[in-house]
Amino acid sequence: MIHRLQRGEVPPKPHIVFEPDGRLAFEHCLTRQGFDGAFTILYHRQPPHWIASEEDLGPHPALDDPAPDGALARRHYLTDRLARGGTPFLGRRVLLSNPDLRVHMVHATESEGSLVANADADELHYVFRGRGRLESPFGVLAFGPEDYVHVPRSVPHRIVVEEPCSLLTCEGLSWIDVPRNFRNPSGQLRMDAPYTHRDFRAPDWPDGGPATLGAPRRVITQRGGRLTAFEYAHDPFEVVGWDGQVWPFAFPIRAFQPRIGQVHLPPTVHMTFAGGGFIVCSFVPRRVDFHERAIPCPYPHSSPDCDEILFYVEGNFTSRKGIGPGSITLHPTGLPHGPHPGTYEASIGTDRTDELAVMIDTFKPLRPSGTAQSIEDEGYNRSWVRGD
Ligand SMILES: [Fe+2]
Repeated sequence: MIHRLQRGEVPPKPHIVFEPDGRLAFEHCLTRQGFDGAFTILYHRQPPHWIASEEDLGPHPALDDPAPDGALARRHYLTDRLARGGTPFLGRRVLLSNPDLRVHMVHATESEGSLVANADADELHYVFRGRGRLESPFGVLAFGPEDYVHVPRSVPHRIVVEEPCSLLTCEGLSWIDVPRNFRNPSGQLRMDAPYTHRDFRAPDWPDGGPATLGAPRRVITQRGGRLTAFEYAHDPFEVVGWDGQVWPFAFPIRAFQPRIGQVHLPPTVHMTFAGGGFIVCSFVPRRVDFHERAIPCPYPHSSPDCDEILFYVEGNFTSRKGIGPGSITLHPTGLPHGPHPGTYEASIGTDRTDELAVMIDTFKPLRPSGTAQSIEDEGYNRSWVRGD
């Protein structure tokens, strides 16, 4: 949902006869917010709604992971403790969830064997490690480390793993998009937005179109957390062209343009994407606050409306000890949170931070899964006990 694009061939107007090779093409209108939001129109060789068979596969395996009850606590999860293997969609494991959002992690070593489509959620992957490509009827979107990859709800696709991919994945159960206030009334990204249209990468159109990709004919669709497999009698990627504003995109986190102030600005200045009930922020290397007596380390705070997840990627995490790349911390509402003892004072006089991290703030409490519990650093909550 960045700007309008076209790939391949489209007719001069929607909803008219289009015969790119002498045969009638079939429109497929992918619309958001009913018919009021952004949309894209794809042109298929075969009707996109014709299937050969279907099969109920039951719940997504990640979602059958009963969450244990636990005391209110700050938590630290070591995602490198998760088993390696599996595919990006079927192999991922939910760690934290609420009615708006599910946060998954996977260390995928295999490409998805079928196409998948998430009818529950827009998906936003953060590529922690690895490299691959997202294949869809829109074309091929290559990605690598430090990219965000956005897949709109219901788009059939598969991730082809070229190097083992560690992905932090947000399922936004209503939507994930560029925050509305980053746009001017014409829909263009404002000059003071933290990124520009040029920073976003769109799918490339292969010679001969996506039909040359040899896509599987099986599409596993998730709805209500349950999976249904649909077999197609034709190639679901037999698309001759598309135009519109809904397409998978990639955004490299280091393209985010951080904002700093004379004194510390609230973490919302790092907002990169918004979703229904949550925001996603990017902390990238930057100069820090420039008042001569500034305290650059984040101040202790209570945000009684938000749970906070931080995913640490790289750098020196000035505020928290015992945290490394691949760490996820959860600081729930109800507890004041802030820097570890000593780090607040130590930040005075520093002029740069090289941290790279992704933060997710949610407006409803998050519930950890059994998998999250199995990779938890049990000592983290006590690291705030005075004297430890
Ligand atoms: Fe916070």
